[in-house]
Amino acid sequence: MFSPRVELKSPDQIRTMRRAGLVTRAALEAARAVCVPGATTDDVDSAGAAAIAGAGAASNFLGYMGYPATLCVSVNDVIVHGIPGPRNLEPGDVVSIDGGAIVEGWHGDAAITVIVGGDAAADPVDLALSRATEGAMWAGIAAFASAKRVGDIGAAIDDFAAREAPEFGLVEEYTGHGIGTQMHMEPEVLNYRARNLGPKVRPGMVLAIEPMLTSGGIASHTLADEWTVMTDDGSRAAHWENSVARHADGIWVLTEDDGGAAGLAPYGIAPVPLD
Ligand code: MF3
Ligand code: CO
Repeated sequence: MFSPRVELKSPDQIRTMRRAGLVTRAALEAARAVCVPGATTDDVDSAGAAAIAGAGAASNFLGYMGYPATLCVSVNDVIVHGIPGPRNLEPGDVVSIDGGAIVEGWHGDAAITVIVGGDAAADPVDLALSRATEGAMWAGIAAFASAKRVGDIGAAIDDFAAREAPEFGLVEEYTGHGIGTQMHMEPEVLNYRARNLGPKVRPGMVLAIEPMLTSGGIASHTLADEWTVMTDDGSRAAHWENSVARHADGIWVLTEDDGGAAGLAPYGIAPVPLD
């Protein structure tokens, strides 16, 4: 039998991926800081690019299948893969920022959702949307800690969304993925419960877990630029992502400064850093 090839990482390889993860986080934080009214999505991209270059790392998005920027900056009804440009951000805009870095050939990939002008400027529905999406991501990451099969992660995301955010749409068309010597690798990490449970979880697996929710329906279309994915009904979307290692002694959220301690605490899980 052939099985999909999943790249399993050694502890030392995971340590190098941690460095890529921290550069990825620094890029997202730099990008977040310029998400203010009047800034352009190009400004957001430039801040992320400067952080990656300043760390001596490289962007994995830039040039990927011809992608023209360092970050994806997806505003309001853009679910994912928004291309930065001259658009001016306005108070209350919901901005998903997705990016990644390569260090010594190893990749990081993460995303956050930011509301321009801060939570005080947010429509309460948008704030709930972003928080539910972040919560769904942590539910998936927590499930990875004890998952037997990769499909257990999507089941946990699905259960969280159904329980905590039944008013929101859980996007099915875009998935998480394995990550390592490439940004996108086997296995696919579904954001919903599926009959096929997928491959067995093994020590050395590193997965990008990245749910997307909308405040309406989940039907989407891609613009003529072949990247920008928008909701059909104009509802807004949020996207949160982390790259997470499972090793012999536990999980480690490579793209969080605290290794995932705060996000996992409600689940009674402590991350196990290898450093
Ligand atoms: N980061 C996206 C994901 O999370 C992929 C972006 S593709 C790119 O998997 F071309 F925009 F980089
Ligand atoms: Co990803």
